Amino acid sequence: MTSSSRWVLVTGGSRGIGRAIVEMLAKDYPVIFTWRSDAVAAADVEQTCASFSGGAQGVQCDGGDRYAVTSLADSLVNRYGPPWAVIHNAGITLDALHVNQDPTRWQHVMDTNLNAVFYWNRCVIPGMCLQGEGSIVLMSSVSGIKGNIGQTAYAASKAALLGMSRSLAQELGRFGVRVNCLVPGLIESDMLAAIPEAKRKTMIGQIPLRRPGRPEEVAKAAAFLISEASGYITGQSLVIDGGMTV
Ligand SMILES: NC(=O)c1ccc[n+]([C@@H]2O[C@H](COP(=O)([O-])OP(=O)(O)OC[C@H]3O[C@@H](n4cnc5c(N)ncnc54)[C@H](OP(=O)(O)O)[C@@H]3O)[C@@H](O)[C@H]2O)c1
Repeated sequence: MTSSSRWVLVTGGSRGIGRAIVEMLAKDYPVIFTWRSDAVAAADVEQTCASFSGGAQGVQCDGGDRYAVTSLADSLVNRYGPPWAVIHNAGITLDALHVNQDPTRWQHVMDTNLNAVFYWNRCVIPGMCLQGEGSIVLMSSVSGIKGNIGQTAYAASKAALLGMSRSLAQELGRFGVRVNCLVPGLIESDMLAAIPEAKRKTMIGQIPLRRPGRPEEVAKAAAFLISEASGYITGQSLVIDGGMTV
């Protein structure tokens, strides 16, 4: 990658939806993705993308650590220039009924799902605005729209992203930078595998399309939102849930 490349940053790109996004975008753009703890999975993504025309490089960085984010973001921008697109994908759930929620775990969810987006944005947005074009995609969730028992922390963080993206779209539109949200429903991933079988079956039975979504289906929507095909779309939320919220 050179300093004039149109490169894409994907947070949490080593597994699940983030991995599918990296593998799809790396066919067209150089991709830098972050991961937090699974070095083996990250190396596997790099290996898969090695023959793609864009390629992908993984970097360990906890998005909830603002000093780590600032240090990495500054070094990437100095080396390659501002990213052309950013997909804020990294996210976790640490579910508990609200009254039983441990404050440290609540904070961890907020740091990973919400604060990390702010830490990254404040480092990359100035350069993207000077560049005069770009796209930022935030990964929300249907939990942020309709809530879910045991997910007050997760739902609050994901609802906050919806508000953040609408405000940011209004701030950045004049600079040619678009900001949109993806709002997945039930998607096949480690996060879904962690839900007990019986509950998963009930949830799938309530989805009009009667199946969970595939990570690749979210990746296609991410590719659309950073492409010129969505050039007049900003401040929007694209729900990918098989009709779950209808
Ligand atoms: N799966 C669903 O049904 C669903 C539905 C709606 C929304 N979403 C959202 O979609 C996004 C991806 O979900 P997923 O199901 O694909 O999750 P996943 O399979 O658990 O993967 C999460 C990814 O995020 C990374 N990550 C976690 N904490 C991080 C941190 N502090 N800093 C940097 N990277 C971190 C992980 O890296 P390591 O493995 O190295 O820790 C991993 O690459 C999340 O924002 C999630 O809330 C998912």
